[in-house]
Amino acid sequence: MAKRIFITGGAGCLGTSIIDKYLPLGHHIFVLDNFATGKKQNLPEHDSLKITEGSVADAELVTRLIKEFAPDLIINSAAAYKDPQNWQEDAETNVVGAINVAKACLENGVNKLINFQTALCYGRPEKTPIPITAATKPFTSYGISKTAGEQFLLNSGLNVISLRLANICGPRLAIGPIPTFYTRLQQNKNCFCSDSIRDFLDMDDFLDILDIAINKEIPTGIYNVSTGAGSSIKDVFDQVVAHLGINAPEVPIVPVGADDVREVVLDPSHTEKVFSWKAKLNFEQTIKRQLQWYDKYGVTDIFSHLAAPAK
Ligand SMILES: NC(=O)c1ccc[n+]([C@@H]2O[C@H](COP(=O)([O-])OP(=O)(O)OC[C@H]3O[C@@H](n4cnc5c(N)ncnc54)[C@H](O)[C@@H]3O)[C@@H](O)[C@H]2O)c1
Repeated sequence: MAKRIFITGGAGCLGTSIIDKYLPLGHHIFVLDNFATGKKQNLPEHDSLKITEGSVADAELVTRLIKEFAPDLIINSAAAYKDPQNWQEDAETNVVGAINVAKACLENGVNKLINFQTALCYGRPEKTPIPITAATKPFTSYGISKTAGEQFLLNSGLNVISLRLANICGPRLAIGPIPTFYTRLQQNKNCFCSDSIRDFLDMDDFLDILDIAINKEIPTGIYNVSTGAGSSIKDVFDQVVAHLGINAPEVPIVPVGADDVREVVLDPSHTEKVFSWKAKLNFEQTIKRQLQWYDKYGVTDIFSHLAAPAK
């Protein structure tokens, strides 16, 4: 059955892939985005897609749009992170925005909200893979504000499914080491690898679990979404070098910055049970698909939520 889906931050990396999947299936979608990091031109023209430029921080706007569109569910994908010193913007989008959306849902009888959370909510974890029971200990503007927003949502009385995401790879990925190495190596520029470990999840695996969250009854709660397997940034570098077919340049391995976390690998076992889902694509397949996408469409932007962006 066709659903009415309201997506905050729908012009971003995840939002546009969600739209590319759900519009052709006959669903009606509304996007509210201020285009801080997302781009209007990445949204297709379609009778079933409505777009409003504006901020989730604008309570009056959020309430009016949700009332008028009358969605079956909300996907809260809006996030501010691009200036790690700008606590105000992060707080307005990630905290006040989440509160505005939750309140508008409660006022207008929208019960279901799917939220996307960063693994940085765990801060520097005591053990990896990070179990879903681990304490939240964020320490960056992005992590703290996203965690405050998530807490509000989980206590709002709505059916909130908060997906704590690994590094999702897919169309328009504009953050992290893959677009950075891909771009710099082609320009013969120096690279360095931070001494860190991440887990990478393919967009198709993410869209599969999102589909379950949209269509099945999933209890309110927090869910780690990942493969559960960690890979080093040097592993990413090596695969980009091999893909580009260039001679491997010297690459220094440097300790992670003070604002970064060395190892972020999420334990998805609880999620796998509740959702009856498991990631299908492994690290090599995921990175390969990402690089093939850049070969076809190019890298448009590179953002970072760290205080020292990749040079
Ligand atoms: N992509 C990942 O690997 C990943 C990992 C962990 C968490 N997340 C979370 O998933 C969500 C989507 O991430 P993404 O990778 O698509 O990022 P993105 O930057 O591509 O998308 C975020 C969107 O939010 C919009 N936005 C920012 N401030 C806004 C505001 N005040 N009002 C309305 N829109 C606003 C941006 O313009 C952008 O289109 C975010 O909440 C992020 O924290 C993503």
